[in-house]
Amino acid sequence: MKVRIAPSILASDFGRLAEQVVEAEEAGVDWIHVDVMDGHFVPNITIGPAITEAVRRATRLPVDVHLMIEAPDRYIQAFADAGADYLTVHQEACPHLHRTIQRIRAAGVRPGVALNPATPVEAAAPILPDIDLLLVMSVNPGFGGQAFIPSALATLTRARELLNACGGEDTALEVDGGIDATTAPGVAGAGADVLVAGSAIYGHPQGVAAGVSAIRTAVETPGG
Ligand code: DX5
Ligand code: ZN
Repeated sequence: MKVRIAPSILASDFGRLAEQVVEAEEAGVDWIHVDVMDGHFVPNITIGPAITEAVRRATRLPVDVHLMIEAPDRYIQAFADAGADYLTVHQEACPHLHRTIQRIRAAGVRPGVALNPATPVEAAAPILPDIDLLLVMSVNPGFGGQAFIPSALATLTRARELLNACGGEDTALEVDGGIDATTAPGVAGAGADVLVAGSAIYGHPQGVAAGVSAIRTAVETPGG
């Protein structure tokens, strides 16, 4: 299974945002990951539809929007209009998750569901046939640069089993948080096929291309 790499622009230099998106695209990444935080669902506040639209204009790659916000239904249309290709909501923020997913699809966007590290993957089981992406958090959402939580490996393995059991072999299984050249082989081995990385790409001492290539090499090295 080919592993896709999705750099999180949260770790980029926002003063040169478009340039940083282009740098990642030229380094061969597959998607651009946009972290939206509201100061309620998570402690941090980041960006909204206007910046997402600027990312959309900077790239032809799929724009993967991760909503870490309460009551995300209020903003589905705004992010659809901003050009999101994937719109992922947190299971923990959606009492009517199935309805939220239907609304995202009706807006012409691919729906995703994210699970916090303490949420059992079974919480998403009933809606797996309805989504295009399942996001397993490997840190508690809110900040970049945190340490990878190892229990995410078992969650990914179980998620992949559940997806295979419901005909969801083509559903993207994404992992987000603490991914670098050291943790990438393990998550890919556990079945993740979209790897989000912020600090390991935008904070790499040798630059964005070196950060992307370190992760790519790590997952593609046999036995690595
Ligand atoms: C965490 C965000 C992540 C974060 C990843 O709440 O969802 O996408 O930016 O950053 P790193 O790769 O630095 O852990
Ligand atoms: Zn994210």
